[in-house]
Amino acid sequence: YSSKQQLTITQPDDWHVHFRQQERLSLTVPLTSQQFRRAVIMPNLVPPITSAKQALNYKQEILQHVPDGTSFQPLMTLYLTDDTTAEDVAAAKDAGIIAYKLYPAGATTNSASGVTNPTKCLSALQAMSKAGLPLLIHGEVTDPSVDFFDRERVFIERILRPVMDSVPDLRVVLEHITTADAAEFVQNGPDHLGATITPQHMLFNRNSLFVGGLRPHLFCLPILKRERHREAVLAAATSGSPKFFLGTDSAPHAQTDKECACGCAGVFSAPVAMEAYAMAFESVGALDKLEGFASFHGPDFYGLPRNNSTLTLLKEEKTVPNSCLLGSRAAAGSSATLKVIPLFAGQTIPWQVQT
Ligand code: NCD
Ligand code: DOR
Ligand code: ZN
Ligand code: ZN
Repeated sequence: YSSKQQLTITQPDDWHVHFRQQERLSLTVPLTSQQFRRAVIMPNLVPPITSAKQALNYKQEILQHVPDGTSFQPLMTLYLTDDTTAEDVAAAKDAGIIAYKLYPAGATTNSASGVTNPTKCLSALQAMSKAGLPLLIHGEVTDPSVDFFDRERVFIERILRPVMDSVPDLRVVLEHITTADAAEFVQNGPDHLGATITPQHMLFNRNSLFVGGLRPHLFCLPILKRERHREAVLAAATSGSPKFFLGTDSAPHAQTDKECACGCAGVFSAPVAMEAYAMAFESVGALDKLEGFASFHGPDFYGLPRNNSTLTLLKEEKTVPNSCLLGSRAAAGSSATLKVIPLFAGQTIPWQVQT
């Protein structure tokens, strides 16, 4: 593949994306639908999407922003809380919700209503297992005594392993894995355990956060790890194993919310998603494995059909915009325009998606 000037694959899906709400959808929905046929939409809004009714309303709002001529399909998730009941889970299944998302309380953006202790959710988890609804997990402990860079590894031992032991048939996706420990745990786990991988965790290690100064637009959660872990995550994604699939975790925040004294976590990769994955796969001579990772392993895991459409990546340089318009925010009688800085902002990258 690598000697060719273009690469055509079955159209991919994004199994983890943040669309946000209101006017932000005018940016996020068209960008993602340019590359992906389907996407799993994260529920960490304000307030969080905890009921099937809220999710269906949110889905309608998203569909209003899908450009004419594309057949993009949002796959809706619900936010698991300590109070989620088995009845809620059954109702979610009936409403066509695709999965529940577990955020440990306090772990990341808008996670204040997250789960304080998964043992409180046992009946909900058992209902999910029974209904065949997967649990998608932000796998980081929030214990302040645990080193920030160890939060994923410690989560696996303290939380994930016990949850999987107590509900053994529960389908689980460990989202946005960042460590060799997670890659190994998933690879050695049962078939109903999978993982998504972002482009930034394949392309960058933690040094990238400090090149010439602090780089807030590469700050995301779980945070980038040392080179050994980047190599392990890249190896997992490019291994051909069906347990690993594409999830960008594209997570837009206003520039002013990133470039400040306490910046938000999130990398906005949607404008360059497939280009970035192509760069990562090409870096290890594994472009022949991109289609499996991007287009087959996800639908196979979720039990959905693979797409019939295709996507073509051209080996042609693309200049990434310096910023994108995210919307506006009311400010004391006026309204300020908000921008978001995408991954590779202002840079030239070697691939582009054919439009
Ligand atoms: C916040 C939001 O969307 O409400 N940002 C974000 O991306 N989560 C902050 C804000 O814009 O007020
Ligand atoms: O970096 C992140 N941003 N990680 C997450 O888990 C959440 C996301 C967001 O919503 O901003
Ligand atoms: Zn997350
Ligand atoms: Zn996310």
